[in-house]
Amino acid sequence: MPNTASTFEIAPPPRLWGGRFAAEPAPEMDRLNRSLPVDMRLWREDVAGSQAWASAIAAAGVISHAEWLRLQAGLDRVAARLDAWPADEWRAAPDEDVHSLVERLLYEEAGEVAGKLHTGRSRNDQVATDARLWAIGAAARLDAALRDVQRALLEQAEAHRGTVMPSYTHMQRAQPVSAAHWLLSHAWPLARDRERLGQARERAAVLPLGSGAIAGCPFPVDRVLLKETLGFHAVSPNSIDAVADRDWVAELLFVGATVGVHLSRLAEDLVVFGSHEWGFVRFSDRFSTGSSLMPQKRNPDAMELARGKAGRLIGNLTAILSVLKGLPSGYNKDLQEDKEALFDTFDTLEALLPAVSGTVRTLELNTERCAAAVDAGMLATDLADFLVRRGVPFREAHGAVGRLVRTAEETGCRVDELDRRTFTEASPHFADADFALLFSPAASLAARAGIGGTAPDAVGEQIAALRRVL
Ligand code: ARG
Repeated sequence: MPNTASTFEIAPPPRLWGGRFAAEPAPEMDRLNRSLPVDMRLWREDVAGSQAWASAIAAAGVISHAEWLRLQAGLDRVAARLDAWPADEWRAAPDEDVHSLVERLLYEEAGEVAGKLHTGRSRNDQVATDARLWAIGAAARLDAALRDVQRALLEQAEAHRGTVMPSYTHMQRAQPVSAAHWLLSHAWPLARDRERLGQARERAAVLPLGSGAIAGCPFPVDRVLLKETLGFHAVSPNSIDAVADRDWVAELLFVGATVGVHLSRLAEDLVVFGSHEWGFVRFSDRFSTGSSLMPQKRNPDAMELARGKAGRLIGNLTAILSVLKGLPSGYNKDLQEDKEALFDTFDTLEALLPAVSGTVRTLELNTERCAAAVDAGMLATDLADFLVRRGVPFREAHGAVGRLVRTAEETGCRVDELDRRTFTEASPHFADADFALLFSPAASLAARAGIGGTAPDAVGEQIAALRRVL
């Protein structure tokens, strides 16, 4: 984030702590210390928090009704001014942070009474209140964007209940599954992410305001009323903890990092499946890019960026945990670093998630290529299961089918191309087997009918269950 502190266009405003200091801070200090370019986006929360605080100190008898009215009206005008402020103008503002900016503007709008607003309040409880308020709103937006990715996966799953494709373990063809089952396997991790997000949001919804700088507020403000007014769900129980608690930031960044990891795994599947070698999926023009040099290229950039952004999301989590580790209790300026990571994670996801939804929603599955990739070898487990149903212990059945697979490999044919004698040599139970059924991918799918399996009915239940969490 560029810092414009060294290019003041107007004289720096008086410091909030002016009385104690004989000299202004050095420009080098200002440049490092100034957080306005980052925390400016908290101005709405700062104004809302200030209006609630004005009401609280009015109710506590600290200011008169008339003063309260002037503060409220002044803050309304500050909000209107900030709302109309072009970005280049606020970037050039000389204030240290959003709190000092709002206070300076309040002086301009309301006069002397502005000096009463900060009674019993510190920027320590103020910034924590603002950031939590912002995060509560941002978490709701993130939840909606996550839900839309789930919806896109669900729509594709519904369209591909009957599409058969290989599943992979160790990146080797494993067993046939329905494409819907694979698509839904990427929707459930997001369901857990949304659950975690809801819990993290709940822990963010704890009101720190009224904690003062560290020891609490010496005036009888009603913190429960403040909580209600601002839409928090609980009141912080300890003022020392309240001004320094950034667990909620770490938790949100963990959710963000985990979402990033999940999307990167979906992205990797799609990048691989979209390659010429696989050809299972084709990305729409609107979510692909071409090459400036190679005319034949059709690149899955959105998915590559999804993979890449995970790195940054993990980085933000690492950053906040590193900042918190070993901090002495109470507020320390290190905590100012929390917002850049917090905003970046939400901004990153806000840009990423709609592109992922769009990519998924518009991709085309090549059902023939998916089905063609399922060969008889992938039904080896089903052959063993057939023997198990005839009473053969699984280990023995596994050995018998393993021998068939080796013979096929040595002969240079597919398992289903071996003659029946080879089968009966491997196990006499194959003598009366229905080979068409034994080598039917559809039968393989249908057999896995338990909860969470890939049988059409089980997938149907899964679709219904996912629809319920949406
Ligand atoms: N800009 C600061 C932050 O983001 C606000 C709180 C400053 N508090 C203080 N005592 N200097 O954390």
